[in-house]
Amino acid sequence: DRTTVAIVGGGPAGLLLSHLLHSRGVDSVVLESRPRERVESRQRAGILEHGTVDALREVGAAARMDEKGMPHDGFAFHVHGERIHVDMAALTGRAVMIWAQTEVVKDLIVLRLEQGEPLLFDTEVLAVEKVDGPLSRDGEALVRYRGDDGAEHELRADVVVGADGFHGVARRAVPADAVRTFERVYPYSWLGILADAPPSSDELVYARHERGFALLSMRSPTVTRAYLQVPNGTDPASWSEEAIWDELAARTGLDDGSFTLNRGPITDVGVTPMRSFVAEPMRHGRLFLAGDAAHIVPPTGAKGLNLAVADVRVLAEAIAAWRTDGSQELLDAYSDTALARVWRGEHFSWTMTTMLHRDPDADPFDDRLALSHLQLVASSESYRTAIAENYRGVPLAGEH
Ligand code: DHB
Repeated sequence: DRTTVAIVGGGPAGLLLSHLLHSRGVDSVVLESRPRERVESRQRAGILEHGTVDALREVGAAARMDEKGMPHDGFAFHVHGERIHVDMAALTGRAVMIWAQTEVVKDLIVLRLEQGEPLLFDTEVLAVEKVDGPLSRDGEALVRYRGDDGAEHELRADVVVGADGFHGVARRAVPADAVRTFERVYPYSWLGILADAPPSSDELVYARHERGFALLSMRSPTVTRAYLQVPNGTDPASWSEEAIWDELAARTGLDDGSFTLNRGPITDVGVTPMRSFVAEPMRHGRLFLAGDAAHIVPPTGAKGLNLAVADVRVLAEAIAAWRTDGSQELLDAYSDTALARVWRGEHFSWTMTTMLHRDPDADPFDDRLALSHLQLVASSESYRTAIAENYRGVPLAGEH
């Protein structure tokens, strides 16, 4: 088989890219290793930047988000019982949208299938080959995969996009001496829950407490999403429902007694480790990496999905320019363009993470620095503006 763009990975990055290419007249095949049910049921992030919202509207996958998503104008820090409010809309003129990644993926899948464009589930990519060398229209790149029929197949493509996540096969097609990686692993994880409980406040709460970080988010007016900092290797089964709620209450409470946590039955629990990672460059010959395949951020600040979406927006434009007028400039600039934004996200996510978590190995000096950092957030409007600008998302070139 033969296509213009072979997209390895049917998560938000790969699926959105297929739509952006389709609307620019470029054909693609999306190959996803997992079954559709699994892709649609994984609990992931929930905050969409303005640019991400725009991209979903542009491809026509925003109807449910526009009906049920929850626009948020700001958020709060709770620091050892004191509240700091960040009025993002007032400081930056922009809001973010609470709408779960799982729901984004569902809508992108339905749209792709309605269009009758190729999206293959249960399709394990075995190898990405023949990506060395210049761009051409001869379908020289090769993706070998095992289809849902159990047999091995080959897909030839002009370019391959690796959007198959941190553990995917696409990045492995880049020779070791052609890539440089940067990495940080954190000495804590997040225990995440979904609960049938109305959100405890209109806005998200990011808490730093002696006992560690906590985050209160939401999925709807009746569903709370919340996270607790826990030690690496924590078994979610070791936490009872009551212990989770008590810990969330202890870490998010305010000294003036003005904050009450709403409790309810917990419907989902999971533990996620935290990592920062960047692979440079994001291109090797005819292979382009996007999203988690090229970079990981720790979840604090919810940048992962938004960085992935920004990657494929840049990439779709670049591929379309190459196909329509043969110009390779945007594709040649892709890695640098994407990485500038990626490193902003890396720095912001690292900042939010280290400012809000308690490193079990930290000495008292580190703790004092983090508290002073939060003191700066509380006291300086210009510093809060900088945080808000990063939180709402740095615009792509040409946006504002
Ligand atoms: C959510 C996750 C985040 O990492 C974050 O910073 C805010 C919200 C969420 O899942 O709702």
